[in-house]
Amino acid sequence: MLAVRVPRKEAEKTRRKLMELGVLARGYAVKREAGFVLFPVTEPVEGFQLIETDFKRVEPRPHSYREVVEVPESLRRLLPGSFDVIGDVAIVEIPEELKGYGRAIGEAILRVHRHIKVVLAKGGNVSGEYRVRKLLHLAGERRTETLHRENGIRLKLDVTRVYFSPRLATERMRIFRKSRPGEVVFDMFAGVGPYSILLAKKVKLVFACDLNPWAVRYLEENVRLNRLNNVVPVLGDVRKVAGKVVADRVIMNLPKFAGRFLREAMLSVRDGGVVHYYGFGPEEDLFSEHEERIRATAEELGFGVEVLERRKVRPYAPRQFNVAIDFRVWK
Ligand SMILES: C[S@@+](CC[C@H](N)C(=O)[O-])C[C@H]1O[C@@H](n2cnc3c(N)ncnc32)[C@H](O)[C@@H]1O
Repeated sequence: MLAVRVPRKEAEKTRRKLMELGVLARGYAVKREAGFVLFPVTEPVEGFQLIETDFKRVEPRPHSYREVVEVPESLRRLLPGSFDVIGDVAIVEIPEELKGYGRAIGEAILRVHRHIKVVLAKGGNVSGEYRVRKLLHLAGERRTETLHRENGIRLKLDVTRVYFSPRLATERMRIFRKSRPGEVVFDMFAGVGPYSILLAKKVKLVFACDLNPWAVRYLEENVRLNRLNNVVPVLGDVRKVAGKVVADRVIMNLPKFAGRFLREAMLSVRDGGVVHYYGFGPEEDLFSEHEERIRATAEELGFGVEVLERRKVRPYAPRQFNVAIDFRVWK
């Protein structure tokens, strides 16, 4: 077979060049010998030393678990196209018709995605005050604790005991960009700290509250893990804390019930401070209901509000979106 032969130090540059030219032969292992690297090519390439040699054949790696999973052909079209990855744990939503093939799906995910060590299936909706969901083991190690990396921070958590969504990483970065050094932040529903820890890298002080003792336990561990000394974890109902802190920025990441805590948020933000509110809204009218509630609460308290930004954060359910409203409070 035809090969391009280059000194080892030029190997990476050459590989890129051959890929760019579309002449690198697929399905063969690159060969190394005596300080040189040999690439299999489909045709002669100018400017390189060309030789004839044999290459070992290799199986091309599948890109998706769907290429290797064993399920009846008639059900293949129902295979989930994506899944959440938290640290080295994959969480997949399996449609009813494929429930009997959970293990096969889990094994296929482990085979294709080498960095994943545990595969779990969603066993219900996010529910309760702690906003957690039941998860079922499909394949891999029998553990549910993992270390997740996001936006340059590390977060340890148990996916069965606390709420965490990797899909909010971009939204958290948006808030990080808006925050300023010197600010005091109040993260009302902090969970294991994805907002708090990230913002603490920039601002002066973060009060991080959560009702779930597991969330606060991991939050404390994550503060240590990220070598921070400006996060104050608070275990308990945010109603008891609100009004006792004066923050430049308040984060209300409890979309299901945030409307019930607007009073607490407005009492905790300083005059001219900003509240980041989250909710769920129907596609046809994403923001109105939330904005009416925001204005009504401000009126009751004798405050003024100014909406700064409205955003669709991500799809939540059919025709429903997770939305964000940033507003300033005037006292
Ligand atoms: C949707 S999760 C968000 C967690 C975190 N901010 C994140 O992005 O991963 C909402 C969190 O609010 C907490 N929570 C619910 N009601 C609460 C309350 N009354 N006081 C304090 N925390 C509460 C839950 O335990 C849960 O961890």
